[in-house]
Amino acid sequence: HNSSDSLLSADRIVNIAHRGASGYAPEHTVEAYELGEKMGADYIEIDLQMTKDGELVAMHDPEVDRTTDNTGLVSDFTLAELKELDAGSWFNEDYPDKVRNSFSGLTIPALREVFEHFGSEANYYIEIKQPDDSPGMATLLIETLKEFELIPAEREGAIIIQSFSSESLQEIHLLEPDLPLIQLISYTQPAVISSGDLNKIKKYATGVGVNFKYMNESFVRDVREAGLLLHAYTVNEKEDMKRVLEWGVTGIFTNYPDRLNELLGKS
Ligand code: G3P
Ligand code: CA
Repeated sequence: HNSSDSLLSADRIVNIAHRGASGYAPEHTVEAYELGEKMGADYIEIDLQMTKDGELVAMHDPEVDRTTDNTGLVSDFTLAELKELDAGSWFNEDYPDKVRNSFSGLTIPALREVFEHFGSEANYYIEIKQPDDSPGMATLLIETLKEFELIPAEREGAIIIQSFSSESLQEIHLLEPDLPLIQLISYTQPAVISSGDLNKIKKYATGVGVNFKYMNESFVRDVREAGLLLHAYTVNEKEDMKRVLEWGVTGIFTNYPDRLNELLGKS
C-alpha cells in the first residue's frame, strides 16, 4: 500500500454514502447502508441521536416524524419503543417509483446494531448531532467504538467523526488525538474562510465539510492550501460532482454513490 491508498490521502476522492444510499432506500436503515456498500461507497455516513435511555441510534432528525410512522422527539422514546416504529414505509409513500416491499417495516438501527452488522470491514463517517441536547454523546460514541474494536482503526481513516460543533470535536480530539475529525461548516452565502480560522481548525481536525451549493473555486483552494481535506455535501447530480471535483474537493457525500463511482470510472 502506498500513501495514496489511505482514505485520508489528498490524492484520493472518497465516496460517502449519505445516510446510506438514501436516494434509493429509506435513509439510515441497514438496507440503505447495504446498498451504499454494494454501490462501492467508501463510507457509510451515520447521523446520531440519543434515546431516552441513553442509547445511540442512527437518525438524522431530532424528531421521528419525517422518517417513521409516529411523532415526537427521539429523546422521549426508549430504544425498545423506537424499535417498534416503521422507518421504511414513508419512503415507499413518498417515492412511488422507488418502492420495494422490503422497505416497509424496516427499523431504526441502534449504532451498535450497525457495527454488529457491518463489522470492521466497513468504514464509518459518524456525525454528532445536537451535542448540547445530548451531553455525553461524544464519550459514549468513543466507548462504543472501543468496545467494537473500531478504534484504534485497522485502516487509516476507517472511522471519521464529523460535527458542526467545534466544541464536540475538540473534546473528542483531547480524548482520541489520532481519530480523524471533520469540521462541518454551515454557510448560507458564498463560502469564505480566513487563514486564522483554517489554522484553528487544523489544530484538531483533518478536514472540513461544506455544502457544495456555497462553495467556489477560491474557497476550495484556500482550504486545500491550508493542508485540510475538503468534503462536499450533499451532491447528487453528476454535473455538480464534476464541478466540485475540478475545483479540488477530496470527497463527496451523496445519496447516489453509484453516480459518483460512474463519474470516477470505478463502476
Ligand atoms: O454530514 C454532512 C451533511 O450530512 C450535513 O448535513 O443535515 O445531511 O446531516 P445533514
Ligand atoms: Ca450528516
